[in-house]
Amino acid sequence: MRLSLNTGPANATEIFSGPTVFQDLNDWLEKGCSRQDPAFILADSNTRAFCLPHLLSLIPSLQNAVVLEMPPGESVKSIDSTIQLWAELAGKGASRRSLLINLGGGVITDLGGFVASTFKRGIPFIHIPTTLLGMVDAAIGGKTGINLGNIKNQVGTFYLPEAIFIYPAFLGTLSEYELHSGFAEIIKIALVADSELWQKLLLLSWQDLLHRRTDQGLEDLIYNSVKIKCRIVEQDFKEMNLREILNFGHTIGHAFESLSFKKNSTPISHGHAIALGMICEGYLSGRKTGFEAGDRDVLTRMILSRFKYFPIQKKDADLMMDTMVHDKKRRESESRFTLLKEPGNAIPGIVCNPDEIVESLEYYKTLGKE
Ligand SMILES: NC(=O)c1ccc[n+]([C@@H]2O[C@H](COP(=O)([O-])OP(=O)(O)OC[C@H]3O[C@@H](n4cnc5c(N)ncnc54)[C@H](O)[C@@H]3O)[C@@H](O)[C@H]2O)c1
Repeated sequence: MRLSLNTGPANATEIFSGPTVFQDLNDWLEKGCSRQDPAFILADSNTRAFCLPHLLSLIPSLQNAVVLEMPPGESVKSIDSTIQLWAELAGKGASRRSLLINLGGGVITDLGGFVASTFKRGIPFIHIPTTLLGMVDAAIGGKTGINLGNIKNQVGTFYLPEAIFIYPAFLGTLSEYELHSGFAEIIKIALVADSELWQKLLLLSWQDLLHRRTDQGLEDLIYNSVKIKCRIVEQDFKEMNLREILNFGHTIGHAFESLSFKKNSTPISHGHAIALGMICEGYLSGRKTGFEAGDRDVLTRMILSRFKYFPIQKKDADLMMDTMVHDKKRRESESRFTLLKEPGNAIPGIVCNPDEIVESLEYYKTLGKE
């Protein structure tokens, strides 16, 4: 399967997906074989162990690529890792024509995209996402970034990869928890932009998908989600209005994510945090944009049947409010949210006051007592 993401003249990404995607990658690399400069592969220790051997066995021309390895986890999305990677690229002879191949989940594609977009004012890069979240969301759309302390994605660029290669069989080694994390972003994409996909998700046997994770059902789901995201990004690459709808669940979700970094040695996943954020922002949607209580309850039940409830105390709610003040989607003194009118129909830029946000956290807290 093949898609193209066009955000303007001379600014496009080709997206290849499916079981034969390495043939496409081979062809794509051959087309650029005039590139004599060394190629680099950025992986984390898991994708190096689980995905890199497969990639190298199918694409012999990459045998000589220089492998850059990072530890797994969100904490590598930092300025320290960025400096380390800039230095490694420089030290190992990268030129402006070198290709960086980001092989990993959203952490590696966000970090690698940022490093590539800034090193020598920008070198070419491609993404090979290896998590479901990476395949349906993080690798698509040209947002790169790192965190500033606990504040998510504070520094970054809009910079498209030259191509994206989605090989669903990589999901075979992904943990069930991380697979669910990716489902959270599929739920979000359906809720903000495609009621038909939402209806499909309601009927889907998730258990079945988990057990047959590399079959056609999941591949179709990935393809549909990517197609919807491309449609949105093409209309608003720099997130001036429409693209903001993809932030549904993210303002409060990022606050859950930051809180879990502060509290736990093993923080919850990005998708888990966004799922919990969608519960709260679903509640706000009921208060502000007419999202029906019945739809809100279906959403809440769907999330709590797949994601563990993360308990919050009064002082945690205060910390979350502090985090949201730093959230980049807050303009001046107002907190703006993307909220739902109905499944498949989202409205960006809805102002919510602190009391309303606290109320949504109170609603969330009541769910822990059920
Ligand atoms: N740029 C964007 O538009 C965008 C959109 C959504 C999310 N994100 C970012 O994506 C990040 C989350 O991405 P993620 O959920 O993919 O997390 P991740 O990259 O941390 O991957 C999750 C875990 O799975 C492991 N892993 C990856 N592929 C594997 C495989 N095939 N087999 C076994 N293990 C594997 C990783 O090593 C890691 O431990 C967050 O930082 C988030 O901010 C970015």
